[in-house]
Amino acid sequence: MKIEHLIDFSSITPEEWNILCNLADDIRHKPAKYADACRGKVMATLFYEPSTRTQLSFQTAMQRLGGTVIGFADPQNSSVSKGESLRDTIKIVSGYADIIVMRNPKEGAAYAASLYSRVPFINAGDGGHLHPTQTMADMYTLRSTKGRTDHLKIGMCGDLLNGRTVHSLTRALSARPGNHFYFISTPELSMPEYITDMLEEKQISYSKVSTLDECINELDVLYMTRIQKERFASEEEYRAQSGVYVLTKEKMDAAKSDLVVLHPLPKVDEIDYEVDDDPRAKYFLQAENGMYIRMALILSMCDIPRKSVTQTYPLPKKQVCSNPRCITRFEPYLPEIVDRVGDKQFCAYCEHKI
Ligand code: CP
Repeated sequence: MKIEHLIDFSSITPEEWNILCNLADDIRHKPAKYADACRGKVMATLFYEPSTRTQLSFQTAMQRLGGTVIGFADPQNSSVSKGESLRDTIKIVSGYADIIVMRNPKEGAAYAASLYSRVPFINAGDGGHLHPTQTMADMYTLRSTKGRTDHLKIGMCGDLLNGRTVHSLTRALSARPGNHFYFISTPELSMPEYITDMLEEKQISYSKVSTLDECINELDVLYMTRIQKERFASEEEYRAQSGVYVLTKEKMDAAKSDLVVLHPLPKVDEIDYEVDDDPRAKYFLQAENGMYIRMALILSMCDIPRKSVTQTYPLPKKQVCSNPRCITRFEPYLPEIVDRVGDKQFCAYCEHKI
């Protein structure tokens, strides 16, 4: 299996996913067998945004495989603070490391970075767009807890507009048969159009509801999310949305006995503390699973040899993406790349409709 760059979970085939899950299971049960599997390899973790789980699980994953880690957790401590472009940073780091993991607040930054990387590149979250390795943790946890990732009724609740994890996960689960989605949010924070368009095109059923009570008794999986304070223009706008959805013990009483509650974490006030002790709450397991599945991913990517050069791209004639959070608005040299699906056009970086 050769995954060159991981921008979204959808680039992993079902066969590759099965291999990765089996590898993660084996690593979990026989850690000594893999203790030197990445000896001599260096991973760079470039975090332009805060992270606990993704950053630390990637770092411990590489260390448990015998490799080493370089990088930054705060771009202010790197030459990014002096104005260095994303392109130059990636070109430089891909000469030092064998694999690059990056989180960046700009939507589409992962695809942009992958254009200039000479080594395998992993998206650890690009703004409110995608978070494929969180999806790997989610899907791996569903496989172990529900025994399947198909024919499920899945509720996604909270900030569906800005929550990159629900975008990646909806895509991943939409590729499995028989799943139905309940999108539980306020109108202001509803699922973006590029995700609902995709579901409609694939004729996958979904419902938009405004309260948890309307559907909690139907659900096999409830995926709670935090209201993404850092993506709001003002404190006032954030306050209008926070605290609308809170999963309580009383709400859990109405749910199925085999419901699985997931959350990418961190959580703030959207799940009552007493729900943590409910055996249906699987979010701490989900976070730990993230380490094993990332170990499997690193192992599958770190043997790809460094390319001597990357492709060169012409400078763009104009900026085509109107999304103010798109990386093309901040890194003006990025080539103009448009994806066409039927008669619609999308920005290849952030996937907004053009
Ligand atoms: N789930 C997740 O991405 O958590 P962190 O922001 O702590 O990495």
